[in-house]
Amino acid sequence: MVDMTRNDKNPRSGPNAVEVRGLVKHYGGTKALDGVDLDVREGTVLGVLGPNGAGKTTLVRCLSTLVTPDAGHAVVAGYDVVRQPRQLRRTIGLTGQYASVDEKLSGRENLYMIGRLLDLSRRTARSRADELLERFSLTEAARRPAMDYSGGMRRRLDLAASMIGNPSVLYLDEPTTGLDPRTRNEVWDEVQRMVAEGATVLLTTQYMEEAEQLADELTVIDKGRIIAGGGVEELKAKVGGRTLQIRPSDPAQLAAMAQSLRDAGLDGVGGAQAVPDEGLLYVPILSDAQLTAVIGLLGAGGFSLAHVATALPSLDEVFLAITGEKNTLPTGPVPQEVSA
Ligand SMILES: Nc1ncnc2c1ncn2[C@@H]1O[C@H](COP(=O)(O)OP(=O)(O)O)[C@@H](O)[C@H]1O
Ligand SMILES: [Mg+2]
Repeated sequence: MVDMTRNDKNPRSGPNAVEVRGLVKHYGGTKALDGVDLDVREGTVLGVLGPNGAGKTTLVRCLSTLVTPDAGHAVVAGYDVVRQPRQLRRTIGLTGQYASVDEKLSGRENLYMIGRLLDLSRRTARSRADELLERFSLTEAARRPAMDYSGGMRRRLDLAASMIGNPSVLYLDEPTTGLDPRTRNEVWDEVQRMVAEGATVLLTTQYMEEAEQLADELTVIDKGRIIAGGGVEELKAKVGGRTLQIRPSDPAQLAAMAQSLRDAGLDGVGGAQAVPDEGLLYVPILSDAQLTAVIGLLGAGGFSLAHVATALPSLDEVFLAITGEKNTLPTGPVPQEVSA
């Protein structure tokens, strides 16, 4: 049985599996990494959240010895990325946004080949391949060529490939970008299982939701620089947590609803904003208790509600909140069109 609890891990204490200081990598005039500092505690997941072009893949490539940094240093599992590349490579696993499987080979052959490349004996490579196929629910498809696999199966095969050498530190570079929600959930389950078994993970993502699901700590990166960091809850609090989106049965009541929430002065509930064009009331909330209180208050006020939804802050909102620029309106995903 896999123990899925994460209570015994404190991201703020214990030894670091990854330590990065002042890491710089420039491509011509592009500052892909412009002085990055970060730590990942052993056995925890650090989410590196940032938009396209932020420098996430360059960071992962530097920490995998695939790219040599221009300045700064990084130590992974006790090995310096520049001075001890061979030792370092043996302790890490890497799964990229683009799966690295060989299309013509079967799932089993792919895993066997990687095992051999990692200097495992034939017998060990075979048993390790079978073990991982089983674990990633690919046993039935083991002998089919990877080109016949679905997107989710490929991604699982890619994750399995990154586990062949029993890495103690795993880099997952946008592991679910481009996947449908069901496949994305499969990948999340696998990552959670690896972490429960003790792996240290550096995960890059563009999705707040993914970071919230998987990460113990978050670092937000933009234009090669770290612009914020901390616990997931901390960061969510900083950006206002979720936004409650309420559609009244009668759009004419929007303003009155917003006013009644403001008058109530609910503890910790941010300003309610009515957006008549959308027929929606947006209320920033930080907890389930606040959500319940807002709905209760509106009900008690005699307002009739046609639809209620919550949205996590989008990456845009996170950036606006962090960089302190004026964020006039929540722009998170608007709920599906509503039938009253
Ligand atoms: N090999 C390269 N040559 C030139 N520019 C690059 C190279 N790799 C990355 N860059 C540039 O560095 C910046 C960061 O890229 P990248 O690390 O891939 O970001 P992300 O993975 O966050 O999308 C981008 O502006 C990108 O165009
Ligand atoms: Mg990338």
